[in-house]
Amino acid sequence: MLTRVKMFFIILREIIILSVMYGFYVLYLTGMNDQNDRPIEEGAISKDTVIELLKSEGDDLERLYARADGVRAEHMGDEVYVRGIIEFSNLCANDCLYCGIRASNLLVNRYTMGIDEIMGTVRSFERTGQTTAVLQSGETPGLDDEEIGRLIRAIKYETSLAVTLSVGNRSREVYRFWKECGMDRYLIRFETSDRQLFARLHPDCSFDERIGCLHILKELGVQAGSGFMIGLPGERLETLADNILLCRELDLDMIGIGPYIPHPDTPLGNEPNAYADNEEIFYKAVSALRIVNPDAHIPATTAFDAVFPGIGRNLVLTRGANIFMPNNTPIEHRKDYLLYPGKPCIDENADQCVACVMMRIESIGRTMGTGPGHSLKKYNKRIQ
Ligand code: 5AD
Ligand code: FES
Repeated sequence: MLTRVKMFFIILREIIILSVMYGFYVLYLTGMNDQNDRPIEEGAISKDTVIELLKSEGDDLERLYARADGVRAEHMGDEVYVRGIIEFSNLCANDCLYCGIRASNLLVNRYTMGIDEIMGTVRSFERTGQTTAVLQSGETPGLDDEEIGRLIRAIKYETSLAVTLSVGNRSREVYRFWKECGMDRYLIRFETSDRQLFARLHPDCSFDERIGCLHILKELGVQAGSGFMIGLPGERLETLADNILLCRELDLDMIGIGPYIPHPDTPLGNEPNAYADNEEIFYKAVSALRIVNPDAHIPATTAFDAVFPGIGRNLVLTRGANIFMPNNTPIEHRKDYLLYPGKPCIDENADQCVACVMMRIESIGRTMGTGPGHSLKKYNKRIQ
C-alpha cells in the first residue's frame, strides 16, 4: 500500500515538473522575453524591425511562425472563411510583364463567361459553405461595367453572399455604381511598393493610379484588399519590408500576397524569383505581414500551392493566414486562366475543390467560417 502511495506522488511530481517545463517552452516559443517580439499592434513600426523578422532563422524562425499564428488567433479567431473565386474572363487589355494572360500573349485561348453561366456557378456556393463570391477577370473585361453591375445585383438578389470584385483600375464613378449595385469588397494588388520596379513591370498603369484606386474604394466604404508578389525580379529584402509596411499604412481590410512565379510566355519568363534559392522567405513574409497587420483578412493564396504542391496553403494558414479561396471557375476555362505555371486544381471541378478545402481546414484543427466574414476593421472602426 505504502509503495502505491509513493508511486502516486512520484508520478504526480513528474507531471507537475513536465507541465511547468512545457509552460516555459510555450512562453519561449511565443517570444515573451524577446526584444523584437514586443506587441506592435499600435504605432509606427520601423523597417529594421520588419527586416529582422524576415531574417529569422532556427529557433527565431519557429518563434516567428508561432507568434504570427498567435496574433491571427487573437485578432481573427480560428475560423477560416472560404471565399469562392470565379475567373469569369481572361480578356485583358494590359501587358504586365509577369502575367500569363497579358494582352500580347497570343497563345492564350480567350474566353468570357456569360452572366447566366456565372450565376449558375454562384448558385452552388451556399450549398458548399462558401459565403463570398469573388469575381475576377483581366483588365477591361469581356463584361462591360453595366453588365458587371447587373451581375452584382443578381447575386445580391438571389443569394445572401458577399460580393468581391477584382477587375483592375476603374474610375470613381464606376466603383460607386458597383457599390450601389451591392458590391461589398474590391481586390486590387499594388504588386510592389518600389515605384521604379512598378513602372518597369506595368507599361499601362502608374503606381499612383493604382494606389489612387485603393483610396477611392476606401472613401466609398468598400472593403479594400490589396497586396503584392514576393520575389519579383529586381526586388530586395528592403522592398519586401516596404511592401509589408505599405499594407499597414493603407490600413487594408484584406491582404493577398504570394510568390512570383515566372511564366515562360512572358518577357520575364527567364527571370527567376528573387528568392529562388531561399523559398522559406515566402512563409516568413506571410508571418511578418500578419504581425504588422494584425486585424486584416489574409488569404492563403493559390501561388503557395504552385511552389509547394499540396502543402503550401496549409502551412500559410498555420503561419498567419485565415482565408481560403477555392477555385470555382468551370473546369473548361481553368487551363486558360494561367497567370503563372503550376497552378493547382486545374482538373478538379468546383465541388471537388471545396471538399478538398474543407478537409485541409479540418486537418489543421480549424473550422470553416460561417456568415460573410466581413472586414473586422470595417465593423470596429468605420461602421460603428
Ligand atoms: N506569378 C505570381 N503571381 C502572379 N500574378 C500575376 N502574374 C503572376 C505570376 N507570374 C498575381 C498578381 C495579380 C494576381 C491576380 O495574380 O499579383 O494581381
Ligand atoms: Fe492583365 Fe496585368 S496583364 S492586368
